[in-house]
Amino acid sequence: MTNTVQFMLDGALVRATVADPSVTLLTYLRYEMARTGTKEGCAEGDCGACTVVVGELRDGNVHYRAVNACILFLATLDGKELLTVESLKSKDGGLHPVQKALVETHGSQCGFCTPGFVMSLYALYLKGVVSTKAEIEEAIAGNLCRCTGYGPIIDAATKMHEIGADELPDLAAKTNALMNLKRDVTLKIEGRAQISGGRTVYYAPVTIAALTKLYSDNPDAILLAGGTDVGLWVTKMHKTLNTVISVSDVAELKEIKDLGGCVEIGAGVNYSDAMAVLSGLYPDMGGVMRRIGSTQIRNSGTIGGNIANGSPIGDMPPLLITAAAQVVARSIEGVRTLDIEDYFIDYGVQDIKPGEFLEKIIVPKPAEGLMYGAYKLSKRFDQDISAVCASFAVLTHMGVTRRVRIAFGGMAATPKRAAKAEAMMLGKPFNIATIEAAMAAMADDFTPLSDMRASANYRLQVAQNLLMKFYLEQQGEVETRLLNKEPVYAQ
Ligand SMILES: Cc1cc2nc3c(=O)[nH]c(=O)nc-3n(C[C@H](O)[C@H](O)[C@H](O)COP(=O)(O)OP(=O)(O)OC[C@H]3O[C@@H](n4cnc5c(N)ncnc54)[C@H](O)[C@@H]3O)c2cc1C
Ligand code: FES
Ligand code: FES
Repeated sequence: MTNTVQFMLDGALVRATVADPSVTLLTYLRYEMARTGTKEGCAEGDCGACTVVVGELRDGNVHYRAVNACILFLATLDGKELLTVESLKSKDGGLHPVQKALVETHGSQCGFCTPGFVMSLYALYLKGVVSTKAEIEEAIAGNLCRCTGYGPIIDAATKMHEIGADELPDLAAKTNALMNLKRDVTLKIEGRAQISGGRTVYYAPVTIAALTKLYSDNPDAILLAGGTDVGLWVTKMHKTLNTVISVSDVAELKEIKDLGGCVEIGAGVNYSDAMAVLSGLYPDMGGVMRRIGSTQIRNSGTIGGNIANGSPIGDMPPLLITAAAQVVARSIEGVRTLDIEDYFIDYGVQDIKPGEFLEKIIVPKPAEGLMYGAYKLSKRFDQDISAVCASFAVLTHMGVTRRVRIAFGGMAATPKRAAKAEAMMLGKPFNIATIEAAMAAMADDFTPLSDMRASANYRLQVAQNLLMKFYLEQQGEVETRLLNKEPVYAQ
């Protein structure tokens, strides 16, 4: 065992000794490195106070993304580059353009939220182009402040390149440094030297074959992908994780392949990367994905994790069910392909065997003429869990419904199709009378719960109304597509 994690920080190699593999990056930064600029607000990925930027190699180049340090395990930083708020300065040693812009627009706020805003804006700055207002809003939607306003921060983001555009890092040099480091780290991993500390043992295989064997040998291990669920088991539920197998370094799980009639998305692909592809195929799917968590969460959380956790309120399952997606599960015994709706058996029960993991998701491209709609209802536009997530896909011929899929999250113990409503529509004219009949049938499909997000009555009524909304939108009669639109913030 080697209890060392190696990463680049401020141009130097850090060899961090890890006493406990489930320690978060935030804890390590604050308590071991005394880099206290990165703050703890919520410790659950919700407020952005802990935002840092992580650089990693993808397709042979370094890519930077903003993530929440509070739910990121330090061990996952092996072979990557880290930038914290203390890393920022201009080439002449003064304030970085992001910081200068915040000062000049009076955008700096309290000491808790400001470092996080700085790092979210810095990740945006690293894209090297002036962002649109929508892109800026998206970049800081995961940085919460309820005291002042976002207007000056948006102004700062608009001006940061104007204030100093030539403060981008030397990407070629950064890529080289990471390639050298990665070689070192990979050798270490292939030698199976992993991290052990406290009661936790941590493995990070780099090939699917190694993952399959490891999981077969340790079927009780916790698989760790983006950690946007698992991280909270540690920070909020104070669980001890015994054996953890990180899937984040398994190259095959991060692949996106276009196979002509469908795309295959590796289970370890994060929301941000998957969104770039899926929103091109199903724009409404992209519209809902854009509202999953925040930029930081979408940069970490994976599609596989969102399906695997079996949550009845996960956003991806209903969207993928109506796209007729399938999941591929792999174990030492081989691979199985199943329709995604069949993966969800009951609350907390999924069709997955010990030692078996999700390898990829197969998403068919939409058939010509397919009408596809997706809607997320939550109390807040950004960074909120769905009360109801709805998705509809209808294919008609000569005005008659030939294919129909209706799926909901938040309406049952699992993500679920509305079988009776679908039966009411199949083979019938796609008209308002059929839609009304399907809406009525939906009452027999679901017996939703009341909870803090919505009452049972609200859920059923809204589910029925969303079908009508979908129908009206397809007729082009009404411009009702407000739910996935960008909100307008008060200045
Ligand atoms: C602040 C915040 C906001 C969020 N907002 C939303 C939201 O708007 N909508 C939404 O749907 N979700 C939301 N989530 C939940 C979360 O982002 C998702 O559930 C996420 O997709 C989980 O993926 P992950 O990669 O982080 O999984 P992890 O946390 O690493 O793992 C989740 C579960 O899946 C298992 N697992 C992971 N990968 C595999 C695999 N390949 N095969 C088998 N099992 C696997 C793990 O063992 C674990 O049980 C939010 C979470 C946070 C913290
Ligand atoms: S401390 Fe709130 S997101 Fe990390
Ligand atoms: S949380 Fe910092 S000013 Fe509101």
